[in-house]
Amino acid sequence: MSLVLLSLAALCCGAVPPEPTIQCGSEPGPSPEWMVRHTLTPGDLRDLRVEPIKSSVDLEDSSILMNISWILRADASIRLLKATKICVMGKSHFESYSCVRCNYTQAFQTQTRPSGGKWMFSYIGFPVELNTVYFIGAHNIPNANMNEDGPSMAVNFTSPGCLNPIMKYKKECIEAGSLWKPNITACKKSANTVEVNFTTSPLGDRYMALIQNTTVIGTSYVSEKELTRTSMVVHVTGESEGAVVQLTPYFRTCGNDCIRQRGTVVRCPQTGVSSPQGHDRSVLGGWLPLLLSALLVATWVLVAGIYLIWRHERIKKTSFSAATLLPSIKVLVVYPSEICFHHTVCYFTEFLQNRCRSEVILEKWQKKKVAEMGPVQWLTTQKQAADKVIFLLSNDNSMCDGACDKNEGGPCENSQDLFHLAFNLFCSDLRSQAHLRKYVVVSFREGDIKEDYSALRACPAYRLTRDAADLCAELLHAKRRVSVGRRPRACHYNCLSL
Ligand SMILES: *[C@@H]1O[C@H](CO)[C@@H](O)[C@H](O)[C@H]1NC(C)=O
Ligand SMILES: *[C@@H]1O[C@H](CO)[C@@H](O)[C@H](O)[C@H]1NC(C)=O
Ligand SMILES: *[C@@H]1O[C@H](CO)[C@@H](O)[C@H](O)[C@H]1NC(C)=O
Ligand SMILES: *[C@@H]1O[C@H](CO)[C@@H](O)[C@H](O)[C@H]1NC(C)=O
Ligand SMILES: *[C@@H]1O[C@H](CO)[C@@H](O)[C@H](O)[C@H]1NC(C)=O
Ligand SMILES: *[C@@H]1O[C@H](CO)[C@@H](O)[C@H](O)[C@H]1NC(C)=O
Repeated sequence: MSLVLLSLAALCCGAVPPEPTIQCGSEPGPSPEWMVRHTLTPGDLRDLRVEPIKSSVDLEDSSILMNISWILRADASIRLLKATKICVMGKSHFESYSCVRCNYTQAFQTQTRPSGGKWMFSYIGFPVELNTVYFIGAHNIPNANMNEDGPSMAVNFTSPGCLNPIMKYKKECIEAGSLWKPNITACKKSANTVEVNFTTSPLGDRYMALIQNTTVIGTSYVSEKELTRTSMVVHVTGESEGAVVQLTPYFRTCGNDCIRQRGTVVRCPQTGVSSPQGHDRSVLGGWLPLLLSALLVATWVLVAGIYLIWRHERIKKTSFSAATLLPSIKVLVVYPSEICFHHTVCYFTEFLQNRCRSEVILEKWQKKKVAEMGPVQWLTTQKQAADKVIFLLSNDNSMCDGACDKNEGGPCENSQDLFHLAFNLFCSDLRSQAHLRKYVVVSFREGDIKEDYSALRACPAYRLTRDAADLCAELLHAKRRVSVGRRPRACHYNCLSL
């Protein structure tokens, strides 16, 4: 009470003492106050909160920091308070630990703010990484004496991923497409085709559209280097109206783990409705220019069409002759069961078939045969038939969603993990230099091979899409060493023939 009176008196006379503010600096080790014995120490904090904030308005270069705010307890011990120390421990792929100490510039004269309300401060610092658990602890200084349990306060904060409205401004997220707005429109063109339009991104040039209502009913890929509105037609095997279209981009830094976008398939608007404007115009004024321009367009289309057909024939001829010259190679692909089939295995298979002229053997396409022969026998037979065996590694499927649901064509349903079986079965080969040539490891991301599969480290390893050309070269090279006698067989599997 006397304190309040005192401050009121001070207010009257105009000699208001300045309010305490904070000055913060890093203090990794113990505070100097630890060394000294204190008979009286301040109490603990009343509240401690953490929220992520964007550090600058600049889109390109903004880091996400923690806004740590705390409220002081309004009791008499506040007069002893000199500083508050905050330590943050982060746990994700690696651990981080750092502390700051915030000194109060003035001693506290009042238990609450002169203007009313509790004393509250906030510190902005400690960079926030994606999907990380942080333990934030804070205590007041001078702290309790050594060997005494001092009052402190701790909170947890789990940082969200790239879909969060603040985290999406992190560089990794921008590179994974967090700011890309494809503005997807999709409509049912016919019973078995869907037209999908979207705006491409400068981050990459390959996209996959996947249509699903309850199951996946169609997929299609498109390559587009230019930044443009692009249009693709997807063949579907079921009712597409009302289905979801999922667009998966394959950008440079995130590979097959980029941020996916969704849209809905609607009915295409009816075309060919005559314009009502024509009626109140004179016949000549209304129809003649239209007729002339139609004639012009028709001529132009004819010329363009003839040119295109001529060019297409030429391209077909050249690519056909190139195709017959190149040997085709048989590749057995094994992949762990947790991998996302549509996004990873399909993408990779399509790449092997179209870019490396490979004939791909997948367990998924031979389910019946696998069941008849048993997985061990099937693997042994396929290994002998194949020129190369590829171990496709999964990366952490943090962005795997929808199309990888357990209840749907996804791999997750696989009760037996053929990858593990194949690894054990082929393990003896991995120890001999002569047989080792047959095996290749492919991953989509930097990352070490799991300890369980450490024997695979002996195999040549490729990272997509960075080493795509090298991988193809390795496959075709293998073919040249093996017999060239076999006739190349075209393989028309696609990702829907599961
Ligand atoms: C806070 O106070 C301590 C002890 O007086 C001093 O060592 C430290 O440098 C101060 N920190 C800042 C950021 O002023
Ligand atoms: C930090 O959090 C405190 C408490 O919620 C708030 O008052 C302050 O404005 C925040 N600072 C920034 C820069 O957002
Ligand atoms: C922080 O999270 C851990 C694990 O989820 C939990 O055991 C602990 O109680 C939490 N601590 C606080 C202060 O919320
Ligand atoms: C999305 O595309 C539609 C159709 O092309 C267009 O009408 C709309 O303005 C676009 N929206 C944005 C935000 O670009
Ligand atoms: C896609 O774009 C084409 C050409 O611009 C247009 O004719 C068609 O109506 C568009 N379709 C959808 C579903 O937006
Ligand atoms: C999804 O497609 C299947 C197969 O064509 C069809 O039977 C089913 O009605 C469709 N579901 C929805 C919700 O459109």
